[in-house]
Amino acid sequence: MLDPVELFPEVPNLYEFPSVHADMVYDERRVNAYKRAIDSTVKKGDIVVDVGSGTGLLSFLCLQAGAKRVHAIERSPVIKWAKLLAEKNGFSDRIVFHNDDARNVEIGEKADVVVSELIGHLAFEEGMAETIADTKARLLKKGGALIPQKVTLHAAIVNEKEIYDSYINGWKNVCEIDYSVMREKAVQQAYVTDISERDLLSRSMKIITVDFSQTNLDGYINTSTFTALRNGFVNGIALWFDAQLSSSVKLSSSPWTKTHWKQCFVPFDKAIEVTMDDKLSISFELKFRVYSEDSFLLNVTPLKRSRNA
Ligand SMILES: C[S@@+](CC[C@H](N)C(=O)[O-])C[C@H]1O[C@@H](n2cnc3c(N)ncnc32)[C@H](O)[C@@H]1O
Repeated sequence: MLDPVELFPEVPNLYEFPSVHADMVYDERRVNAYKRAIDSTVKKGDIVVDVGSGTGLLSFLCLQAGAKRVHAIERSPVIKWAKLLAEKNGFSDRIVFHNDDARNVEIGEKADVVVSELIGHLAFEEGMAETIADTKARLLKKGGALIPQKVTLHAAIVNEKEIYDSYINGWKNVCEIDYSVMREKAVQQAYVTDISERDLLSRSMKIITVDFSQTNLDGYINTSTFTALRNGFVNGIALWFDAQLSSSVKLSSSPWTKTHWKQCFVPFDKAIEVTMDDKLSISFELKFRVYSEDSFLLNVTPLKRSRNA
């Protein structure tokens, strides 16, 4: 059984643990995609900002690509290890570390490129859109380049068994004590898991695209209609993303690729029976955390099923 990760309402401070960074540093698809995008974007002599630099890997790739100086911004204590890595690998004289939230950082110059990897399992729950919008407005030269350029969230209706049977329907009464409240709470979470092609009951649809050249932080509402590919019971939605890192490089967390992000499963309270070609309309509402008291929200609501006549 896979461990589910609760994504709502807060992302815990995972980034203080080395194992979390190991998952990212040794995710070959992620690193190779970023390396290709950096090599084709960063020019010799460029000033680069790396937002959320973690162990510093993207900063080091930018220096290898010819950057004159990189400002590595990281709010968690992992920055201590990034400094050691920079020293060990001879990068220290071209990297300036800023140990703070990116919103508070001034760099005293403007950057040619802003690179970041703030991509969550649901793409946006780690504040990527808000942080990139702020960094772009304050620290990037007019006409400077962003990596990633835009990110799209994809969804499909699914019949998922492992998470649903254990973590949703597993909440039964115990010692004659009514535990139904816990099932209600469990249904309001998103779970990180491997969605296989055989779980999918529809083709995937693009739900939301955030283009960082013109970020709209008012939030997004979208209603999509999924067509059942076969008979079955829809017990939730599978979600994944693709990130356009540069004009020629895309990084995806779809069920057809293998990355540390896997996919997300958002369960429904009750399964909805569909027959082949039925249409199921679902509304998606995405709200960003623009002010610190706001919280990220992804609301997924099944609206109506229309029967195939
Ligand atoms: C997904 S990790 C990526 C780490 C590194 N860039 C890499 O590619 O291996 C995101 C990092 O960004 C940091 N971070 C997220 N939001 C931030 C913010 N607003 N200001 C500074 N650091 C931030 C987190 O602490 C974490 O270390």
